[in-house]
Formats: sequence, C-alpha cells, structure tokens
Amino acid sequence: MWAGVACTFSRVGDQYSDQLERNGHARRLSDLELFADLGVRALRSPILWERTALDSVERADWAWGRLLYPPVLCLAGGVDSPPLGPGAVSDSAGAELTPIDPVRPIESAASTVDDAPAAGHGTTAARPRAQASRQIAITGARGTLGRAFARLCDDRALAHRALTRAELDIADPGSIEALLDDLRPWAVINAAGYVRVDDAEREPEACERENTVGPALLAAACARRGVPLVTFSSDLVFDGAKRAPYLESDAVAPLNAYGRSKVAGEARVLDAYPAALVIRTSAFFGPIDPYNFVTVALRELAAGRPFVAADDQVVSPTYVPDLVRASLDLLIDGAHGIWHLATPGAVTWAELAHRAAELGGLDPSGIVACSTAELHLAAPRPCYSVLASEHGALLPPLDQALERYFLQRSEAQAAT
Ligand SMILES: NC(=O)c1ccc[n+]([C@@H]2O[C@H](COP(=O)([O-])OP(=O)(O)OC[C@H]3O[C@@H](n4cnc5c(N)ncnc54)[C@H](OP(=O)(O)O)[C@@H]3O)[C@@H](O)[C@H]2O)c1
Repeated sequence: MWAGVACTFSRVGDQYSDQLERNGHARRLSDLELFADLGVRALRSPILWERTALDSVERADWAWGRLLYPPVLCLAGGVDSPPLGPGAVSDSAGAELTPIDPVRPIESAASTVDDAPAAGHGTTAARPRAQASRQIAITGARGTLGRAFARLCDDRALAHRALTRAELDIADPGSIEALLDDLRPWAVINAAGYVRVDDAEREPEACERENTVGPALLAAACARRGVPLVTFSSDLVFDGAKRAPYLESDAVAPLNAYGRSKVAGEARVLDAYPAALVIRTSAFFGPIDPYNFVTVALRELAAGRPFVAADDQVVSPTYVPDLVRASLDLLIDGAHGIWHLATPGAVTWAELAHRAAELGGLDPSGIVACSTAELHLAAPRPCYSVLASEHGALLPPLDQALERYFLQRSEAQAAT
C-alpha cells in the first residue's frame, strides 16, 4: 500500500505559510513510524518549489532534505537504489514509489537521503526514472510558451515531449489521434496558438484555426482518453469597460478577431471537455525570448534609439517562468475550468518600459509615450485588461518578476 502527503504553501492576505511547518509534520520524523504502522510501504509527496527553488533549480536549496521533511526523505530512493532527484516526485501520474522498510522506516529513509543533494537536478541518477514514466505532451515546441514549459519540465526532471507543428498539427484531427495513440501522454499542454493580434484582423480564419478549432479538437481527443489538458487564452477576451481587474466570472466582450477566436476556443474546449484547464493570461515577458516588449525596449534604449510605447492601455504583463510554474502546478493538481494567471500589477506599456529601464540602469528619457491611436494598430485593444483571479494571486508581483527577469536574463546570456 502506498500513501501520499498533501502539502502546499498557503496564502492569507500577504502572509505565506508552509502547511507542513504549521502542522508540525515537517519536523516530526516519527510520523514515518505511524505510516509504517498503517501498513504503508511507500510514500509519494510533492516537493514545494516555493521552499526549495523559487527562482531556479540551479539555485535550489536541498539542505533541508537531510534533516527535515520525512515525506521527501522517503522519496529519495530505496535502500539499494540511487537517490531519486528532485522533479520526478512531482510526476503524480508516473513517478515510481520508493519503498519504506517497515521494520526500520526512519533509518531506511534517512540512509538514502544522505546523498540526495548530490543527486540533484540533471544528474544521471535523477533521469532514468523520469524517462521511464509517461510523458507530458507539449504543443508549440518552437514558441515562447512551449519552450518555457519544456525548460521547466527539464528543471523538474518531468518526462515530456515538446512537439513542433510538423509533429502535431493541433487543427488536424488525424494528426492529434495518431500522436495521442502513439505517445499516450499523461497530460497535454497546449502551448500552440496564433498570437499576432494585428495580423488576425486580415486573416481571421488562420487565427480561428489555431485558437478555436485546434484547442477544441485537442479537448475532444483528450476527453475521449481522460487525459488532462491545459490550454491558453488571453486578457483580450475583455473590452476594458470595467476599468478594474477582470475576474474569471466577468462577462467576455472581445474587441478584435484574436479575442473572438479565444472566446470561441474557451467555450468549445470546455464544452467538449469540462475537466480541461483554460488559463487566461496577459502579454508575456521573459528572459529567453528576444522579441518580448521588455527585452525589445531595453535593447532599443541601450542602443540609444527612441522607444515608443502606449500610455493609455493598462495591462498586467506576465512573467513567463512564473506563468509556466503555476500552470504546471495547477495541471498536476487537477484544476479545471477557467483560471486567470497573470503577474499581479497594473501598468501602461510606457510605465512598464520605464520600470524596466530603471531596473536595468538605462536612461528612460528615450521612452516616447503616446496614445494607442497614434500607433495605428490594425486591431483595436481594450484600454484596460488587467487580470486578477477569484482563486487568489498565484504569481509573484511585477516588481519582483522584473528583478528576476534581469537575473535570469544574465544567467541565460552567460550560459550561451
Ligand atoms: N505571447 C503573449 O503575450 C500571450 C499573451 C496571452 C496569451 N498568449 C497565448 O499563449 C499561447 C502561446 O503563445 P506564444 O507567445 O508562446 O506563441 P508563439 O511564440 O507564437 O508560439 C506559438 C507556437 O504555436 C505553434 N502553432 C501554431 N499553430 C499550430 C498548429 N496548428 N499546430 C501546432 N503548432 C502550432 C507555432 O508553430 P510554428 O513555429 O510552426 O509557427 C508556434 O511555435 C497562445 O495560445 C497565445 O494566444 C500569449
């Protein structure tokens, strides 16, 4: 018989707390005896990334694992097996369970964890088990979101397969069926989609194919197989009239073809598969992709060129690494329906450029604030599209995200 310990970080107002610390389990090694008394011979437990590796697995702190958190000790590997590295333990659908010696439960767990930090991220000891488990299928492998998910799965040693359009066309039923039958993933992350908001005005059919038809087909195929699915929608499903943060239950009223394709996609996905998770999110920025607003603004300012940005649209720019981490957690936790996941913050594009320039040590005087009308964009935009959630704020705030953007961008540059 196996068992699992459910643990999480909870938040009340601005107070965060670790539930295992609060209930005392974290420091009570003797709980293992109680598990063994119940006949439990294996434990599965999540690692809390908020405690271990908030910023990156490269800077993870595994030291606590030697002394504390018995459930994690148990997952560190059987007595005779190599320690299981972090990440695979989050694979609720496929990670192997680690045996507890019923006679010496504490010693058996503790004896294996001594080496656990050395077997951390990326070691050969960590990999084989993760690869043996069923994979997560990630569509849109070449896109910003798809690459970020693949990266996070690498960090967590979660078995995954990132699929290019040639390997899986989400709007082709035959392609979906073949791939799902062949790969038999335990979950599908649909990071594919049409994102060129202005181009969508002149090619709405192409936009609808990727944002409505594709997600709906994926949802129907996943529903037939009972495979969890997460797909992404946008803040542009709203018209901005509310002028206060939009919640999941607010009425949608898209102003442009892209927004309409997302509204239709959401409805068709949830109609075909009510257990699907549909995440609405906002304009991305991240440390890797060279084309996002923040990166382009910094590049232009650093080169001494003016940078034009609207000062009459209020948005919640969203830090991609935080978005993918929270999305993956929700997927693993079995969340479903519509969720808003955006970096908490409400800024105009011009304000965002200012904040980024200041944090990046650049002269912000090159930022030229203008109205949206002056930009002559093909697609109308809401003047306000900030997202908040009825489920609470799951992502760290904007200023913190921007600080990590600079840190992680430097790390990414140093690594290349
Ligand atoms: N970017 C944002 O600021 C933002 C904001 C809110 C929501 N979102 C949503 O987040 C999702 C991902 O956005 P992103 O910025 O990562 O987009 P992206 O960088 O443009 O990547 C989209 C990927 O989807 C792939 N794709 C398009 N149609 C496909 C199809 N029929 N089958 C398989 N793959 C297909 C593209 O493949 P090719 O490389 O072959 O073209 C591309 O690699 C989208 O649903 C988008 O609407 C994005």
